[in-house]
Amino acid sequence: MFEFKVDGALDIGSSGIKVALYKNKKIDKINFVDYLDMAEEKTVAIQESLETLGKKINLKGKNLIVTIPASKFYVKTLEYSSTKEEGGEADLEAKIEEDLEDIISGYTKDDFITQIETIYETDIYKKLVVITIPVEEIEKILGILSQFKIRVLKIIPDFIALNNLVDILDQKSEKETNENIMIVDIGGDTSKIFMSTLGTLNMLRIVGVGGSDFTEIIKEHEMLDYEEAELEKHQLELGNDDDRKYKSQSEMSMFKDLTSIVNELTTQIENSLEYFNTNLTEGRISKIFLTGGGALIKGFKPYFDDAFDLPCEEVDLDLLNLDYKKAEDRELLSTFRITTLMGALIKEVG
Ligand SMILES: Nc1ncnc2c1ncn2[C@@H]1O[C@H](COP(=O)(O)OP(=O)(O)OP(=O)(O)O)[C@@H](O)[C@H]1O
Ligand SMILES: [Mg+2]
Repeated sequence: MFEFKVDGALDIGSSGIKVALYKNKKIDKINFVDYLDMAEEKTVAIQESLETLGKKINLKGKNLIVTIPASKFYVKTLEYSSTKEEGGEADLEAKIEEDLEDIISGYTKDDFITQIETIYETDIYKKLVVITIPVEEIEKILGILSQFKIRVLKIIPDFIALNNLVDILDQKSEKETNENIMIVDIGGDTSKIFMSTLGTLNMLRIVGVGGSDFTEIIKEHEMLDYEEAELEKHQLELGNDDDRKYKSQSEMSMFKDLTSIVNELTTQIENSLEYFNTNLTEGRISKIFLTGGGALIKGFKPYFDDAFDLPCEEVDLDLLNLDYKKAEDRELLSTFRITTLMGALIKEVG
């Protein structure tokens, strides 16, 4: 009966927090704060960043859709033979619960919040994706946000927000619908590689490589602090290491290490492509969407363009035709970093 209107979205990532407020069908305000100290305990980092963000944009009393990192969730793709007989649904529910108890240590129905979606179904077979999180994790986030008087309308995993965005963009583009799309989100601490089948999240893999690995390498080789190394990273350009003129031996080994991180990610994507494809009931992955702040390193995308036979595209938020109250807000965050945020918002207000 009573419904809160959506004031905006808040993306709590592994490297920082981003917020967008929406008013009169426009992006009213947009801002972000990166965690100062990546080594700091995340709860403290989130509190400090919300404090800073709250000084730039009033967040008190705002009704927000909140996204939290994939790493907090368990995502399992499960397959069952399905029966249309009476009581079949209840049987299936019991079977899923039993399986989750086996796969996830400590899983009980009461201590976890679980969401189940059907990816594929015939008369005798059912493929499901199960997303589950300890209630404790949700309570922790709600506790922090309530200290800042933020009203949480919904908490969603960051990859679901991205998945929804890619689905909306696919519908908006006038091209033929892509049945199976791979999405690669290179974040701070981790990268998410997942597949979307006809708009539904299909399989997810989290890889422990992200933008901060590059920063760490620069920090070590150039003997800088984290912040300086971040700035250095924004200037840097990856590319063919053999043609590069190096200033020093140390610079050469730095580029070698940076390239090895890119190669590791490439291998992870290759393996995921193969694994996802062999698990597909129908069709194959037809394209890759690349996003996340980690992918902003100059020269990154050409690696992927060369490595895969599939088209590798950037998520293009222009297709959403969003209006911004302040034109500079469109530039404030490079689109790669606000995709998750926009995915969370657009689903509600678009
Ligand atoms: N202009 C840039 N050039 C290179 N790297 C950048 C640039 N801007 C941001 N980054 C890097 O992007 C990373 C953060 O990306 P993003 O904001 O997508 O992560 P997140 O959402 O906090 O993390 P996650 O999605 O893993 O929870 C950081 O490592 C940061 O250094
Ligand atoms: Mg993110």
